[in-house]
Amino acid sequence: MRSPRRRLKSRSNRSGRSDKGGFDRESSSKGLFGIGKGTGARTPIDGFPAPEALEITPRAVKAGDTWFRTLAIVGWPREVSAGWLQPLLSWRGAADIALYFEPVANDTAARHLQKQRARFSSSLSKTGISDPMMEVAATDAEDIARSIARGESRLFRLGLYITLRADTLEGLDAETYKVKVLCSSLLLDARPTTYRALEGWLSTLPLGADQIKLRRTFDTRAAADCFPFATGEMVGHSTGILFGRGVSRTRMDAGGGGGSPVFVDRFALPNHNMLILASSGAGKSYTAKALTGRSALQGDEVLIVDPDDEYVRLTQALGGEVIREPTQAAKEDSRVVCYALGETEEARLHEAVGQALGSVWQRVDKGPVRRRQVVVDEAYLMLRENPEASYLLWALIKRSRKRLCGLTIITQDLADVLSTTLGESIINNASIHLLLRQTEKAIDGIGSAFGLSEGERNFLVAAPQGQGLLLVGGERAALKVVTSQLEHGLCVTDPAAQLVAANR
Ligand SMILES: Nc1ncnc2c1ncn2[C@@H]1O[C@H](COP(=O)(O)OP(=O)(O)O)[C@@H](O)[C@H]1O
Ligand SMILES: [Mg+2]
Repeated sequence: MRSPRRRLKSRSNRSGRSDKGGFDRESSSKGLFGIGKGTGARTPIDGFPAPEALEITPRAVKAGDTWFRTLAIVGWPREVSAGWLQPLLSWRGAADIALYFEPVANDTAARHLQKQRARFSSSLSKTGISDPMMEVAATDAEDIARSIARGESRLFRLGLYITLRADTLEGLDAETYKVKVLCSSLLLDARPTTYRALEGWLSTLPLGADQIKLRRTFDTRAAADCFPFATGEMVGHSTGILFGRGVSRTRMDAGGGGGSPVFVDRFALPNHNMLILASSGAGKSYTAKALTGRSALQGDEVLIVDPDDEYVRLTQALGGEVIREPTQAAKEDSRVVCYALGETEEARLHEAVGQALGSVWQRVDKGPVRRRQVVVDEAYLMLRENPEASYLLWALIKRSRKRLCGLTIITQDLADVLSTTLGESIINNASIHLLLRQTEKAIDGIGSAFGLSEGERNFLVAAPQGQGLLLVGGERAALKVVTSQLEHGLCVTDPAAQLVAANR
C-alpha cells in the first residue's frame, strides 16, 4: 500500500520575506539550541528562502532533492555524566541535532514532585508490596525535591531531536538504523516523529521552535551534563605547564585542538612521573622537548639522557650544559643538562646510556632536593638487555618522589614496558600517561593495558602527529600538543640528528 502523502506549497516568496511580516522576532533570538518556548501558531518557514514544494510522508519530508527524517528521544537513561551526549553530537553522518531546555518554575516543580511522591506512596500502601523500580524512583523524586527546596537545583524540561538527511528514502532508512543503534548504546530510545515529520524537521531548524514537545524533566546537574560544550574535557590544574589543547571531536572543531587549554602540574600529583608511549614519528620527542622547555622556564632543573642529540638545540637555547662524556658530572650550577650521546658508536650505546643515567642518579640522589625532571628518551635502550641501566631506572622511579623528582620516560614499544616487572612498575608509578598515535598492531595491547574504549582506540590509530590521549589520575582527555613558533623551531627533529640516527 502506498503511504498517504501530503503536499505543502511553500508560502514564502523568492525575496525571502512574506506579506505577514516574516519570521517571528521572538524565536529568532533564541539561538541554535532552541532554548525557550515554541513560536505559536505561525508557520516558521514564513519569510525564509524555502524550497518550492515539500513532499510530506508519515515518516519523512522531502525538500528539494533531500529527504529528512526526525527522530525524537522518548526514552532516557536514569543517570547521566558530563559529556555523555558527545558520541551523538560528534556523529560523523549528516544530522542536525536540536536540544531544547525549558526551565520549570520552582513552585510548579515542587507541586509536580509532590504529586509524584504521593503517587509512589499510595501505590505502595495499596499493594503492600514494594516494587524496587518504584522505590528508586521515589528516592530520586525525594532527593530532587530536597535540593530544590534548598535552592541547590531546579528543574528543566528537555527535548532532543535528531534530523537525518539522505538523497533517497533507502539511504534515510540506513542512516536511521545507524543512529538508533548509537542512541541505544547511550540508553536513549529514539523514535521517528511519525505523522509529524514536518513538525520534527522544523524543530531541528535553527528557529528555536519546538513543535514536537516530547520533553523529559531534568534537574540542573543532569541538564548541565547534556550541554554540547561539556565534552568531558579535562579540567587540569590551575598551576603547572600547558600540555596542549583539548580535541573535541565535533564537526565544529574538525581540525582538532580548538578546545580548552589543559594545564598539568606533575608536582601536584601523587608521583611526578610521566610515560609517553607512541609509534615512531608520532611526536613523542617533540612533545617531551616542548614540555621540558616550559618546565625549565618555570625554574625546574632538567636532566636529559638523549641518545640521538635531539635535545641539544633546546638545551643551548635554555643556556644549559651539553655533556658528551656520559660519566662526567654536570656543573653544580647548571639548571639544564643534556647528556647528548648521538656521537657514541652503536656498540657502546647501551653502556653509554647506562653511564649517563648513573651520572643523573648521582645528582638526584646526592644533590640538593629541588624540583627536578629527568627525561629519558628512547628508553628501550635501558629496558632491553641492559640490566645495569634497568636497575638505575628502577631506583630512580622508586626514589624520585621523595627527592621531588619527576621522570619522563619515552618509548615506542609497549612490549618493552609490559614484558618486564620494571615496565609494569613504570606504568604503575607514572601519574601521567600520554598516548600518541599507535599502530594497528599495538593498539589492542595498549587498549587493554590502559582500559581504552573502542572510540579511544580508533582515535589513537588515526591520530595526526602531536595528538593523543592524556591520562592523568582518573581523568582522560583527547589532547593536541600545541607550541609557539619559537618552541616549534626548537622541538622539530633536527635533520642532522636524524642523519646520525639513520647512520647507526
Ligand atoms: N605537536 C606537534 N606539532 C607539530 N608538529 C609535530 C608535533 N609533534 C610532532 N610533530 C612533527 O613530527 C616530527 C616527528 O616527531 P618526533 O617527536 O621526533 O617523533 P617520535 O615520536 O618518533 O619521537 C617532528 O619533527 C615534527 O615535525
Ligand atoms: Mg623520538
